[in-house]
Amino acid sequence: MSARPSVGWIGTGRMGYEMAARLARGGADVLAWNRTRAKAEPLAQYGATVADRLSELAGCDIVFCMVAAWKDVKQVMGELLAEKSRPRMVIECSSISLEGSAELRAMLAQRGIDYLAAPVSGNAKVIKAGKLSFVCSGPRKSFNEALPLLNMIAPAASYVGEGELARIVKICHNVFLGVVIQSLAEITVQKAGVPRHAFLEFLNQSVMGSMFTRYKTPAFVNLDFKVTFTPELLRKDMDLGLDAGRRLEVPMPLASATRDLIQSMIGRGMKEEDFATLLVQQAQASGIELQPENVEVKDGLS
Ligand SMILES: NC(=O)c1ccc[n+]([C@@H]2O[C@H](COP(=O)([O-])OP(=O)(O)OC[C@H]3O[C@@H](n4cnc5c(N)ncnc54)[C@H](OP(=O)(O)O)[C@@H]3O)[C@@H](O)[C@H]2O)c1
Repeated sequence: MSARPSVGWIGTGRMGYEMAARLARGGADVLAWNRTRAKAEPLAQYGATVADRLSELAGCDIVFCMVAAWKDVKQVMGELLAEKSRPRMVIECSSISLEGSAELRAMLAQRGIDYLAAPVSGNAKVIKAGKLSFVCSGPRKSFNEALPLLNMIAPAASYVGEGELARIVKICHNVFLGVVIQSLAEITVQKAGVPRHAFLEFLNQSVMGSMFTRYKTPAFVNLDFKVTFTPELLRKDMDLGLDAGRRLEVPMPLASATRDLIQSMIGRGMKEEDFATLLVQQAQASGIELQPENVEVKDGLS
């Protein structure tokens, strides 16, 4: 790979925008495209170029992709691969199934394009704080080549093996995310009378506290549910986990119950805000009407 490969970036939603911004700010030569162009335009302030058409990215050395579900990845990749010129490598970061990822690997292999599956852990604020992590699979050589770019976006990038192994790791991670936030909602909404900020202050400093419980604390205390990750995207990941569990004949009782609770929330129309609104659903089911506590609490990121 040349010292400064040209990098195409597909998808500048909540995650993709912040990831591409870190690359551009780190000095990479970034050409970004988003279906809704306006969301990509502010990347120009960091030196990135915004493409009018996805096809323009086909001439880049390396193309990253961060869209939503497999059907969306397939659509954008289909368009990219219809072009005569081809990137040397595709790095796909969306949370998608193993099957989708394997289909993409085959599409790319037919055209001699290297492929790294590289989903991530962390939300947009985590990216900004420089605490995102990648989990990667594919040829070790591709991982080694991609690492300098991955490290401009995230300090941590784990290589877990060949093929689509990174996909199952990411799916497991998000099943855990769903189960943990539901459990956190169940224990934070309490009728015993402990203020949420006091409860979470203790929990966050205990052996059970984590980067996740800390950065969800402001939402749980002050009921700020500005979207970081939508309930529908979380349901997608729970479904990917449960599908894999069925195929591999693994029982996942906690994941099954949590999936239905997320579905109940979506069915009640609670889908435009953050997935942390599981707290509100838990309060409703407990006969409590939550009020913001209006207490300044730290998220552990800034
Ligand atoms: N948010 C998180 O905390 C988080 C954390 C880790 C992983 N993820 C995963 O990261 C991916 C992106 O999540 P996000 O939160 O950034 O979602 P998002 O804000 O909804 O962004 C989705 C992006 O995909 C684009 N897109 C969707 N369908 C498309 C299609 N058919 N053709 C072209 N572009 C399409 C959207 O374009 P438009 O702007 O035109 O709609 C947008 O750029 C998902 O796979 C998600 O599961 C999210």
